[in-house]
Amino acid sequence: MKNKKTEVIGIIGAMDVELEALKKEANISKTTTVAAMDFCEGNIGGKNVVIVKCGMGKVNAGICAHTLINKFGCTGIINTGVAGSLDNTLDIGDVVISTDAVQHDFDVSPIGFKQGEIPFTGLYAFPADENLRKLALEAATEVAGDIKAYEGRVCSGDQFIYLKEQKDVITGNFGGMCCEMEGAAVAQACYLNDTPFVIIRAVSDKSDGSATMEFEEFQGAAAAHCVEIVNYMIKNM
Ligand code: ADE
Repeated sequence: MKNKKTEVIGIIGAMDVELEALKKEANISKTTTVAAMDFCEGNIGGKNVVIVKCGMGKVNAGICAHTLINKFGCTGIINTGVAGSLDNTLDIGDVVISTDAVQHDFDVSPIGFKQGEIPFTGLYAFPADENLRKLALEAATEVAGDIKAYEGRVCSGDQFIYLKEQKDVITGNFGGMCCEMEGAAVAQACYLNDTPFVIIRAVSDKSDGSATMEFEEFQGAAAAHCVEIVNYMIKNM
């Protein structure tokens, strides 16, 4: 895929396990610290990339995406990492490619707004870029082996979801394919800065009573699936 709007790609993860392999691949030539985040500039297959660990949560993720766009000139952003599943057809290790992203913990409903709606803007779900989505799906198919890739809504909030009751509230309000803690903030920052984005997440747990144990056990293997996909995407842009 050739896309003029994706000349410097920002890659955001929340944890080291999600980024270390990509950093090795990218031969990092320069690291700059902004807002306590290390922005690592490098090159994968001739494409300029900036790889950064934003830390957990939506505030970190929003600041990170805004900085990538406005200080490092990123013209496209990929948010990658692990997630809890919301849809029972998904298995641990399966991959979700975002159609759109919502903030499941954004709630101004007591004064008349829809759950997740950003008041006075009409904004609710932030759509992912069509070209990046297509490329992510192609990458997932290409590198998948026995991994299944699904397209769907990513639900983000500043909570680790580990109870079936929490999971049911989120799916009741938003549907959704997976939950995590950063994607929708990246999406909103990209929307506000008119920059394409996609979120690619591998399922590390099922967001229910077993989630904390599953997360510990499977996060490494799940994150590795995303690394392969992102790597393929960058090399084929
Ligand atoms: N990231 C991975 N698993 C998660 C979960 N269950 N809730 C929130 N973020 C996650």
